[in-house]
Amino acid sequence: MALGYNSRPILPESTPMRATARAQPNIALIKYWGKRDTHRNLPAVGSISMTLADLYTSMQVEEDASLDADVFELNGRGETKMLTRVSRCLDRVAGETRPKVRVISQCNFPIAAGLASSAAAFAALVVAANAALHCEHDDAALASLAGRASGSAARSLLGGFVELENRDADIEVRSLLTEHEWPLQVVVAITTADSKPVSSGDAMEISRETSPFYDRWLDQQPADLDAARDAIANRDFARLASIAEHNCLKMHSVMWGSRPPIVYWNSATLACMQTIRKLQADGVAVFFTIDAGPQVKAVCLPAEAARIQQALAATPGVTDVMLTGLGPGAAVVTSQ
Ligand code: PMV
Repeated sequence: MALGYNSRPILPESTPMRATARAQPNIALIKYWGKRDTHRNLPAVGSISMTLADLYTSMQVEEDASLDADVFELNGRGETKMLTRVSRCLDRVAGETRPKVRVISQCNFPIAAGLASSAAAFAALVVAANAALHCEHDDAALASLAGRASGSAARSLLGGFVELENRDADIEVRSLLTEHEWPLQVVVAITTADSKPVSSGDAMEISRETSPFYDRWLDQQPADLDAARDAIANRDFARLASIAEHNCLKMHSVMWGSRPPIVYWNSATLACMQTIRKLQADGVAVFFTIDAGPQVKAVCLPAEAARIQQALAATPGVTDVMLTGLGPGAAVVTSQ
């Protein structure tokens, strides 16, 4: 049945309106930093990411006629800080006249700490809401709706290597390689479970307004995207390592050059980078990338993962390490 945007079919009164979806965070190899439209949350640049396998967020969305307002529960506790963002996202998926819902979320990794928890959360939310409220948006529309809530969330709609491109007044995500076509692994070094001091959305605006490096960042992004796309197509690890580290350090330079400066790293972040530099000097195929937070992600070939995990676990200040492969895009796990 073809449906208009923000509409839903009329269902028998007895049809239960509940669905659960699961999504994995993605980590950017070529980063998104800066918005070209804050109202529609459109990124200033394209980006390329990998969707992870073993970190996840699940979202159950259930219509509840007894509610006067949406309810959001995260890891077993009522959560009011994110509720407005969740409700707005639901309005965009199902229209402002939608029924009120109870949203129950489970997340198995630290939240708001630079591990793309919002990407996984909003990818899972749009997919679950679409199924629970019978909206029938297609994948492209869901990616766009997820991106409105969190720029990087659109990429978690797909698995493996994903490119997000700007298209006129919207975005488009596409798969570059599946998780099976180049099964890289990622060791995540946790250096603190604390939430970040400034949200990435606010920080991007500070960078756009004040960083002397911001315009150069925008100018150079197409060349970085070309290099990474080519490296992925050829499964050229060394080339991908070189462009991904360069792009990551450039994004953080834009942040450091902002006023006030935006510094998400701590001393353990730097210690992890040194550990990875030593491994590289020993001939290990590994590179680092860091998003808007202090955690370090070491991307590697599977044969090297155990050694890298050990080295990062022994790095001063690291509180935990997690190993994950690449995984699929967001999907409904149960629906009624
Ligand atoms: O989607 P947001 O608003 O959390 O922004 C994410 C920005 C970075 O993680 C730093 C880079 C990226 O491309 O994911």
